[in-house]
Amino acid sequence: MLPCGILEWGVGTNNELEGKLTMKWLGVILLSMTTAIAAHGAVTKAVFGTMPDGKTVDVYTLKSDQVEAKVMTLGARVLSIRTADRDGKMADVVLGYSALDGYLDDQKTYFGAVVGRYGNRIANGAFKIDGHEYHVPVNNNGQSLHGGLVGFDKHVWEAKEIPGGVEMTLVSPDGDQGYPGTLTAHVKYTLTHGALRIDYSESTDKPTVVNLTNHTYFNLSGDAQSTILDHEVMLAADHYTPVNTVLIPTGELAPVAGTPFDFRKSTAIGARIDADNEQLKIAGGYDHNWVLNGKSGELKLAARVVDPKSGRVLTVTTTEPGVQFYTGNFLTGDKFGKAAEGNPKRSGFCLETQHFPDSPNHPAFPTTLLRPGVVRHSTTIFTFSTQK
Ligand code: BGC
Repeated sequence: MLPCGILEWGVGTNNELEGKLTMKWLGVILLSMTTAIAAHGAVTKAVFGTMPDGKTVDVYTLKSDQVEAKVMTLGARVLSIRTADRDGKMADVVLGYSALDGYLDDQKTYFGAVVGRYGNRIANGAFKIDGHEYHVPVNNNGQSLHGGLVGFDKHVWEAKEIPGGVEMTLVSPDGDQGYPGTLTAHVKYTLTHGALRIDYSESTDKPTVVNLTNHTYFNLSGDAQSTILDHEVMLAADHYTPVNTVLIPTGELAPVAGTPFDFRKSTAIGARIDADNEQLKIAGGYDHNWVLNGKSGELKLAARVVDPKSGRVLTVTTTEPGVQFYTGNFLTGDKFGKAAEGNPKRSGFCLETQHFPDSPNHPAFPTTLLRPGVVRHSTTIFTFSTQK
């Protein structure tokens, strides 16, 4: 009926009813074609810069009917995400630099990066697999942070365009930063309407540990110089993992009830951030892992953040068991790159969906061990919308 209708319309039928029907079908087809284009979004590629060793860094621009996201091959990093406020005004809602040298100079923030092999900390840079002890570089108060000295954020990933997005691949050789096994990591970014989806998958040829996450800092106001203290946050978690003085989990899953860590009801980030609370003092604000309610491996609500001024809303869903809610306490306003761009303390927040920090040293935490023959998958979706 469908192709026949088009044919008839194409050759010019003189049956009026048939004509109306075929026009209607054509409308439906055209509408679904535009929806498909809008749903999948357009993808374009350009050069972002050149690494000191001459390697080209590309930027992929993903564009839907609602959002424009840029992702570069250095560190598989999110460079920018432009979304509308409640009046339809577009602005970039993530922190970053306008040129590559900003990212090369800045060794501290991990703006927008996929961090790995192990996102967040491993105590003393040591862990055991099958009785064998491994040592990875300590780069943060005697602990290993975000994969060590040359983590996944510092590598130029291979990239290829996929429908509505880009797939980045990094092969980390056996022994890279002290981690065992050749690890192959794929990270797919796809954009559909208001949703930026990240699909991770990893495989190895020797038992290893892996915990990839994305380290984007959001500021939903679109003004990267303002703080995020008035943003209202909901975290779907009854428990969090308290830390010791060097930000390593003690192993306890502590209830959030009755503490400044209770975000089960939407609360302004700044409402309790400087409360007289030992955990907040240790981290200089929020920099903790929340234990998400619901099953690990199933896509579930993790967080919802509202910027009351702009009306922008960010909803985070994930298959991961935890989320590191970090309020940019260590941002110092240092200026990096040609444009001398810097970001003040607490001008961005991260929602790093992940397995818990230091899991290799906590057998009771969901495991980060990956064995050969298994492909580990996880998904996180950042959805942008607005409210009045
Ligand atoms: C960590 C912070 C760290 C930040 C930037 C976050 O994931 O939890 O402690 O300062 O990354 O490195």
